[in-house]
Amino acid sequence: MNFHIVTLFPEAFTSYFNQSILKRAQDSGVISFYFYNPRDFTNDPHKRIDQKPYGGGPGMVIQAEPVIKAIAKAIGRKKKILVVWLTPGGKDFTNTQAHKFAAEYKDIVFICGRYEGIDARVKEVFSVTEVSIGQYVITGGELAAMVIVDAISRQVEGVLGDPDSVEENRIASHNVYTRPETFIYKKKKYSVPDVLLSGHHKEIEEWKKNKKT
Ligand code: 6GU
Repeated sequence: MNFHIVTLFPEAFTSYFNQSILKRAQDSGVISFYFYNPRDFTNDPHKRIDQKPYGGGPGMVIQAEPVIKAIAKAIGRKKKILVVWLTPGGKDFTNTQAHKFAAEYKDIVFICGRYEGIDARVKEVFSVTEVSIGQYVITGGELAAMVIVDAISRQVEGVLGDPDSVEENRIASHNVYTRPETFIYKKKKYSVPDVLLSGHHKEIEEWKKNKKT
């Protein structure tokens, strides 16, 4: 899976992507990241890419042409490619989509907006899928892209060591415990539920089901 990320802030991605599972997945070649900075695609002598919005309003808008050129570079000659436009106005991203995107595409472009947004004419040039990560506003699309990339990556074969880990209704369902069986904190004893130590698989499964939130 190749993730192509159009962003004014490529460094924002490195600390998260270059650790743990996503790092290992890159090292083993199952996922790759490519960055395209609209600032590298402007003819402005000062590399400026934002201007005041037509029609008024606060803040600045990112110009269409540098973004279009960056996207065009990401797409290259690829025939089948998904272009995701990160915006709080988009449809809420779901795990069903994560699974579908991972199954259907080998290349996905993410367009990260900042400030008041990107000139809407970009959407007249490329057909995009507008996606949000929830009902709140964050200062740019970068974090949102990271969230979505992470969710999609888990669905890519070979990213998680144990394929059973992908099974999503298991994740974050019941509480989990590990060694030691008991510890003391501020004179109080904390123990693992007995049933988990019992070795009775049927009872354990029953407990897990009832503990689901
Ligand atoms: Cl994709 N972008 C921004 N700026 N805020 C958001 C979002 C995206 N999704 C939820 N809030």
